[in-house]
Amino acid sequence: MRVLVTGSNGLVGSRVCTLLEARGHSVMGLGRGPRRTGGGYGYVECDLTRPQDVAEAIESAAPEVILHPASMTEVDACEKDPRQAYEANVNATAAVARSARKLGAHLVHVSTDYVFDGEAGPYDEEALPNPRGVYATTKHMAEQVARIFVPGCAIARTAVVYGWPAAGRANFGAWLVGALEKGQRVNLFEDQFVSASFADSVAAMVAELGERKLGGIWNTCGAEVVSRVHFGRALCEVFGFDPALINPVRLADMKLASPRPLRSGLKVDKVRARLSAQPLNLAESLTRFHATWKAGRGTEEKQS
Ligand SMILES: NC(=O)c1ccc[n+]([C@@H]2O[C@H](COP(=O)([O-])OP(=O)(O)OC[C@H]3O[C@@H](n4cnc5c(N)ncnc54)[C@H](OP(=O)(O)O)[C@@H]3O)[C@@H](O)[C@H]2O)c1
Repeated sequence: MRVLVTGSNGLVGSRVCTLLEARGHSVMGLGRGPRRTGGGYGYVECDLTRPQDVAEAIESAAPEVILHPASMTEVDACEKDPRQAYEANVNATAAVARSARKLGAHLVHVSTDYVFDGEAGPYDEEALPNPRGVYATTKHMAEQVARIFVPGCAIARTAVVYGWPAAGRANFGAWLVGALEKGQRVNLFEDQFVSASFADSVAAMVAELGERKLGGIWNTCGAEVVSRVHFGRALCEVFGFDPALINPVRLADMKLASPRPLRSGLKVDKVRARLSAQPLNLAESLTRFHATWKAGRGTEEKQS
């Protein structure tokens, strides 16, 4: 199958490309600027905020399936620059979805648990979004845009994705391990509850939605809803770090630019019942994360 993946320099996009290539698909990654990941799959430079470039890149690749994880993902940066967030999250999705429609390609749009206000999580796929803040609002708008252009598309919502950092960019888990292994204290929210998600597992669920051309909303995330402090302590146990380095704080005390949902977990019953790729519980996710971390460090040491 010819598959095109946006955001292929990113955490989820890079994993999806590697996985689909290993399964024998013809994969084309789209990324901003030069390629920053390995792999034998194709790569095209394309800024998704340039609609003409997007149309040319996608239409010349003529994919049967488009997976769209690319996004402006830094929540506070979105709050500070709503115009850029709108361009990267809403208009870019419109450009991708427009080409998907023109080609008759199946679209899997990757979204977030932040479409919910976090007052009554965990949420299933039928729950009504109520986004707060610029990132959340633009991601919710992007879901609508994807559905308008490609009514049969899949919306794959995920949450707090972590893994060995793609192209060196930090993510929650990588930041945490990086600090704890140096013996640094870390502030973690004790009052934010999330479905933390191991990137390779998210990629497997997103890839399956593409391969099977499934539509509708899917919660493609970790199987357990935990506080960030709970996550951090569980990570310490698996990696052998000192849990006393974790300093529990309350979200409101951190005075961050963007609001964040407090109880924003996602229910995974639908994915459990209908996908082969299964959401992982926390212990299994962290064990796999630890293994990829050791392998990644090992490769870095050999190269230096
Ligand atoms: N990470 C999380 O905790 C989390 C939680 C919930 C939902 N999600 C969703 O999951 C999806 C994947 O996230 P991720 O963790 O893989 O994030 P990521 O590592 O930040 O990857 C996003 C990718 O999108 C690319 N991108 C942004 N603007 C672009 C533009 N104008 N043109 C071309 N490419 C552009 C970025 O390019 P550069 O590398 O050049 O910046 C980056 O490679 C996103 O849709 C996000 O909203 C993520």
